[in-house]
Amino acid sequence: MDRLALYFAIFKQIKSLPPVLQADLTGKVVLVTGANTGLGFEAAKHFARMNPQRLILACRSDEKGNQAVRRIERDTGYTKAETWLLDLNRFASVQAFADRYEKEGGGRLDILVENAAISSAQTYEKTEDGYMKTSVH
Ligand SMILES: NC(=O)c1ccc[n+]([C@@H]2O[C@H](COP(=O)([O-])OP(=O)(O)OC[C@H]3O[C@@H](n4cnc5c(N)ncnc54)[C@H](OP(=O)(O)O)[C@@H]3O)[C@@H](O)[C@H]2O)c1
Repeated sequence: MDRLALYFAIFKQIKSLPPVLQADLTGKVVLVTGANTGLGFEAAKHFARMNPQRLILACRSDEKGNQAVRRIERDTGYTKAETWLLDLNRFASVQAFADRYEKEGGGRLDILVENAAISSAQTYEKTEDGYMKTSVH
């Protein structure tokens, strides 16, 4: 994309924001990773306003996840958000999350937002499983 096209693409997005879509998510199960802050939190809050049957915030800290649950309750009145622990830097955590989902997920997942990560790492680091980290800490 040349520079002019890039400026045009950015300008177009600033000038005319797309409409915020709403739907009835009654009976649906929604899972957002990295939902305690940033875009993930805003996405989770958006879904909360559409009243899903379950809204699972997959976070690597119980404390941060529970704070997000309380903020969602306060901002939207939705009281069914749950924190589930998930650290994507560790396969063991991913496996434990998947095992838990199999047992407690109720056999369905309607919307998955795989948001957790950072845009670019400053330095090359490996996870304990030997893969390049795409998140800090
Ligand atoms: N913001 C932008 O302009 C932009 C642009 C392009 C792409 N993105 C992408 O959009 C996503 C969210 O961006 P953001 O700006 O909202 O980022 P953010 O505010 O830094 O939030 C990132 C979220 O991901 C979680 N996370 C990071 N590593 C994790 C791991 N190993 N396991 C589990 N959770 C992990 C963080 O948890 P902790 O709070 O525990 O760290 C946090 O909840 C990222 O994937 C980013 O690359 C963002």
